[in-house]
Amino acid sequence: MLKVENLHAFYGKSHVLHGVHFDVQPGEIVALLGRNGSGRSTTAKAVMGLVNWEGTINWKGQALNGRKAYEIAHLGIGYVPENREIFPKLTVHQNLLLGRKGNGKGSRWSFDDMYEMFPRLKERQHTEAGVMSGGEQQMLTLCRTLMGDPDLIIIDEPTEGLAPKIVELVGQYLQNLKARGISVLLIEQKLTIAMSISDRALVMGHGSIVFEGTPDQLRADADVRKEWLEV
Ligand SMILES: Nc1ncnc2c1ncn2[C@@H]1O[C@H](COP(=O)(O)OP(=O)(O)OP(=O)(O)O)[C@@H](O)[C@H]1O
Ligand SMILES: [Mg+2]
Repeated sequence: MLKVENLHAFYGKSHVLHGVHFDVQPGEIVALLGRNGSGRSTTAKAVMGLVNWEGTINWKGQALNGRKAYEIAHLGIGYVPENREIFPKLTVHQNLLLGRKGNGKGSRWSFDDMYEMFPRLKERQHTEAGVMSGGEQQMLTLCRTLMGDPDLIIIDEPTEGLAPKIVELVGQYLQNLKARGISVLLIEQKLTIAMSISDRALVMGHGSIVFEGTPDQLRADADVRKEWLEV
């Protein structure tokens, strides 16, 4: 459904992705792992049209070259960037409302679905989003993106800086998406959560994919883990 081939990306003259290739199939959770600076976020930004890139990115058979981020979102790819971009002065409910496409009719997801997944958001639905904790803001960005009814969601390090209990909630959220047939590209540094919920794992190093396999294959491959993941 998402197919990336020979992807190169650039920040000005700096060439940071060098022929990245991978795909994501319907209903699959794919983990994109790697150390700091390996190129994971840049890969996500390229798919969303937020960085200069060359190569092939195909979504449901359609080339994404030259498309703007909002068009790509409309084609059904949701994106949760590293920095949780909420609207701090708006309430939780208003933030969710802004995530909807049109009037939300025909969407797989309702406000109640969000509040059921994260009861904390229900309690705080009339609170200004900016006063909530980091974990609550992360839940809100995840849900706001979901309100746009994506078929694939790309999530950049959702568990960074969160308490173990909230990490667990994020894990449940991701499995919930999968159960509803939504694909996930999960950028992570924490191996435990990524390995426990993903169908396939990709490892990036220096702007290329250096490993692709199942979580079990990655667990068994001490050389790859040592060279590209462990610090
Ligand atoms: N806005 C930018 N301008 C110039 N170089 C950048 C920019 N953003 C990232 N880079 C460089 O691109 C390379 C890949 O960075 P990227 O953010 O994709 O890594 P990452 O795997 O997401 O790691 P992390 O999130 O831990 O930093 C790094 O060498 C980084 O320094
Ligand atoms: Mg990053």
